[in-house]
Amino acid sequence: MYKTLIDRLIKENNLTAAEYLMLIENRDEIRDYAAKKACELRNKIYGKKVFIRGLIELSSYCRNNCYYCGIRALNKNAERYRLTKEEILSCADEGYRLGFRTFVMQGGEDGYYTDELLSEIIREIKRRYPDTAVTLSLGERSYESYRALKEAGADRYLLRHETANKEHYAKLHPKEMSFENRQECLRQLKSLGYQTGAGFMVGSPYQTNEDLARELIYLRETQPEMVGIGPFIPHKDTPFADFEGGTAEMTVFLLSLIRLTLPRVLLPATTALGTIDPMGREKGIMAGANVLMPNLSPVSVRKKYELYDNKICTGEEAAQCIGCLSERVKNAGCEIVKDKGDFKNEIRR
Ligand code: SAM
Ligand code: FES
Repeated sequence: MYKTLIDRLIKENNLTAAEYLMLIENRDEIRDYAAKKACELRNKIYGKKVFIRGLIELSSYCRNNCYYCGIRALNKNAERYRLTKEEILSCADEGYRLGFRTFVMQGGEDGYYTDELLSEIIREIKRRYPDTAVTLSLGERSYESYRALKEAGADRYLLRHETANKEHYAKLHPKEMSFENRQECLRQLKSLGYQTGAGFMVGSPYQTNEDLARELIYLRETQPEMVGIGPFIPHKDTPFADFEGGTAEMTVFLLSLIRLTLPRVLLPATTALGTIDPMGREKGIMAGANVLMPNLSPVSVRKKYELYDNKICTGEEAAQCIGCLSERVKNAGCEIVKDKGDFKNEIRR
């Protein structure tokens, strides 16, 4: 019966929330089938390729106070740093040399990075390396700001919606933060022509299986080009320090359901997944993921961008990470490619 649901998901893509919920609750019986079908679909569209994105964590300053996040403004124990334009460009130089063709600039919401400064950095990366894509993940900004950064050459924007349930959103964030604005930002980014990434944490405090089923409906309705999901991992200096974290098995199963729901999606096996399970990234790829985001930030700052406890890969040079990840990807039956790895539109089939 669950197989029939998966087959209908592939053919008609019209599962109800109740049907997604049934799959989630009975995942032990169907996870292997779902993973097999998810990989088949991914391979048909993208081949057995895994795209790599060089992550540059440009600032651990953040004005916000998300209850789950280790770099929230009120965490007095967080060590703060910000990278200069020159430091960011030298990360990109190193990344290009290592074969990266996408750079992701991520950080807390830090007013230091004005539109002017970011535009200069984006323009310079594009001038030096015209065959690369620039992705931003800098939180909620104004429409004007998103427009200016797009004009400067940014191609993609990652902004996890965090949860599709407004009541749940209010349990994860202080009242100054708005569910509606987050959604509005995603709409604006899409309208400006960014390849847009939504996403959520798996097993975040107060999340139910019903919420997870609704996430899949939300993704089907909003059709993001990228989806970032990873387990929630508690951070010791946050209000959620004593909550349980999400599991790798649930995250991996959801990766398969997301691939089946959005066949063309660019879907990372995240560092958070690799943090809670030493084989997490391999399992993610074997469940239908096709992106990895190794860290290109200078090793001296990596431990300071501590969103959650025990984050992996904070001590290695980027070159070492590439070696390690190539092996992991091979073991998962795929290969890393040096490619911008754009979203494939239906038309270009
Ligand atoms: N400031 C930007 C934003 O809000 O989109 C980008 C940085 S933010 C730290 C990136 C993502 O990290 C968040 O969207 C959240 O889903 C994830 N994250 C934060 N704290 C986490 C935790 N404790 N466990 C797992 N993921 C976490
Ligand atoms: Fe960084 Fe393995 S991915 S050391």
